[in-house]
Amino acid sequence: MMRETENTTTINQLSQKEKNLLELLERRWSPRSFSDEKIPPEIIVKIFDAGRTMMSSFNEQPWRIIFASKDDAHYNKLFECLGEFNQKWVKTAPCLGVVLGKKHFTKKDKLNRHRFYDSGAFMAASTLRATSLGLFVHQMAGFSPEKVTEKLNVPEEFEPLTMFVIGKKAAPEQLPEDLQKQECENSDRNEVDEFLFGEQWDVSYTSSDKNNSDE
Ligand SMILES: Cc1cc2nc3c(=O)[nH]c(=O)nc-3n(C[C@H](O)[C@H](O)[C@H](O)COP(=O)(O)O)c2cc1C
Repeated sequence: MMRETENTTTINQLSQKEKNLLELLERRWSPRSFSDEKIPPEIIVKIFDAGRTMMSSFNEQPWRIIFASKDDAHYNKLFECLGEFNQKWVKTAPCLGVVLGKKHFTKKDKLNRHRFYDSGAFMAASTLRATSLGLFVHQMAGFSPEKVTEKLNVPEEFEPLTMFVIGKKAAPEQLPEDLQKQECENSDRNEVDEFLFGEQWDVSYTSSDKNNSDE
């Protein structure tokens, strides 16, 4: 696909695109109550096709995915890799996956310390695509990378980074009682001022002298 190089977008179209993006960002969250409705493989491909568009260091695209629908023979192998807490709620979701990162750059045979960062960007874009399709993604750090490597015969060059489920959300009532409350609460976010700094560490960029000066 060719890049759009000409500035043909009008202000109105731009603001509609911006609205669409903001709406997606607002709609995304990580539910734990999933419906068991199966997600067709072509939808799964669409979701990760969005991740494919992401930038990565040296365009390495270090991400890989092992995916299983509940009716696939290897689903249980993946499920057994989850920590006890995650197994409690993941069991209703129709599928399960793991994101893996390639440890070295292919062309340079050098450690790729950006593999986590790039794979996170890949999952962020994929997650937003899932959101646009009316689906939800919930990622998990609570699993054993060693078990994934062993049970799924992952080559030494690849490292399991996060697991995830994708699906339609369901009513909170199907969750164990201790998880129902969290399901209904918004998760907190830091304000931009708390992480956007200028010259001085921990001093907001927008409140620094330079930006407040009347000169
Ligand atoms: C890398 C990563 C690991 C996570 N691990 C878990 C996990 O093991 N179990 C879980 O229930 N949620 C897990 N989460 C979900 C986060 O708790 C959640 O994204 C965060 O609280 C913000 O909430 P929101 O996604 O609903 O906005 C994880 C999310 C990410 C991105």
